[in-house]
Amino acid sequence: MKQSAPIPFNRPSIQGRENEYVLEAMTNGHMSGDGPFTKKAHALLEAELGVPKALLTTSCTHALEMMAYLLDIQPGDEVIIPDFTFVSTVNAFVLRGARPVFVDIRPDTLNLDESRLEILITPRTKAIVPVHYAGVGCEMDAILEIAGHQNIPVLEDNAHGLFGKYKGRYLGTFGAMAAQSFHETKNFSCGEGGALLVNDPRYTERAEIIREKGTNRSRFFRGQVDKYTWVDIGSSYLPSDVLAAFLYGQLEQREKIQSHRRRVWETYITGLKDWADQYEVRLPYIPEHTEQAYHMFYLLLPDLDTRQRLIMYLRERGIHAVFHYLPLHLSDMGLRFGGQPGDCSVTEDVSDRLVRLPFHNALTGSEQEQVIEAVLEFKF
Ligand SMILES: Cc1ncc(COP(=O)(O)O)c(C=O)c1O
Repeated sequence: MKQSAPIPFNRPSIQGRENEYVLEAMTNGHMSGDGPFTKKAHALLEAELGVPKALLTTSCTHALEMMAYLLDIQPGDEVIIPDFTFVSTVNAFVLRGARPVFVDIRPDTLNLDESRLEILITPRTKAIVPVHYAGVGCEMDAILEIAGHQNIPVLEDNAHGLFGKYKGRYLGTFGAMAAQSFHETKNFSCGEGGALLVNDPRYTERAEIIREKGTNRSRFFRGQVDKYTWVDIGSSYLPSDVLAAFLYGQLEQREKIQSHRRRVWETYITGLKDWADQYEVRLPYIPEHTEQAYHMFYLLLPDLDTRQRLIMYLRERGIHAVFHYLPLHLSDMGLRFGGQPGDCSVTEDVSDRLVRLPFHNALTGSEQEQVIEAVLEFKF
């Protein structure tokens, strides 16, 4: 067995002027939230994506929580969420007392299956939350049409999908609001961070208030009111400008970062395609009308046992591959909401078979060669 340095699943890295900006944020007299770097990051996201309002948050989880406040989710309300997602997508609404209604995923993109939506809608449905899994767009035309018939807001969990597109339009710009993640594992990061994109202007003013502890501080700083005071419920969802400085340094390098990630993704496809055909391993599927965000590379192995053996085998070679997500309806919390085996059979199947290979902004060509070589030598 080859002995080489371990290859982590993810490794955070400096891509541009992050160090310089962080130092500047620490010494320019404005380290708290909404300082100069936060404003630059807002302006960059708004201009690049064409969204009316971008607000940095302390995490994607918190951006999702803000959405639940903004929709005034009440106990007993229902929110439709894909079964195959991170817990934050659902927790944000359950925290307000909502009952999650899990929708199964499409076997091809692993995104919410829009053909199963209509039957789940009831008079209590208060939101539909598509997650653009792996930064590949959900079928937004169909989702918006179904939601539009019943006047139900669509909220995008775009944690994976910054700069991905569906039919030529950026992910995160379709729903009333969208949540972004800048967690360490994402394409653009500041360790822990996120953003709320507000596309429907009816939510903008209250979003600023909720993010600022329930005060009208943002209006005060714009000179729109002469004092700032407590006007609504809220919390503290704005990140320090030090984090915004790091993030801005990364966002500035978006072309470099995305083209590196594209290369990594394409190298995996080229290196593994024949092997995948031979052993009936499914590689990611990207519909032609979408432009993916190059967030992750996954394999769908034939069964759970093979998936587990591949992860262990790679680990023995110092390569860290991971799986996710467990079906939410079968989690401890999901069972309390009445989840039953078989409710979301595609998620149950995919969850057993999926493995993610190392994929990050600092992955080198030689590291990737080692990963591919190891996978090709795996004995089924
Ligand atoms: C689909 C999805 N939504 C939300 C989150 C939460 O993001 P954060 O860690 O920024 O709160 C994640 C985290 O990985 C995620 O994958």
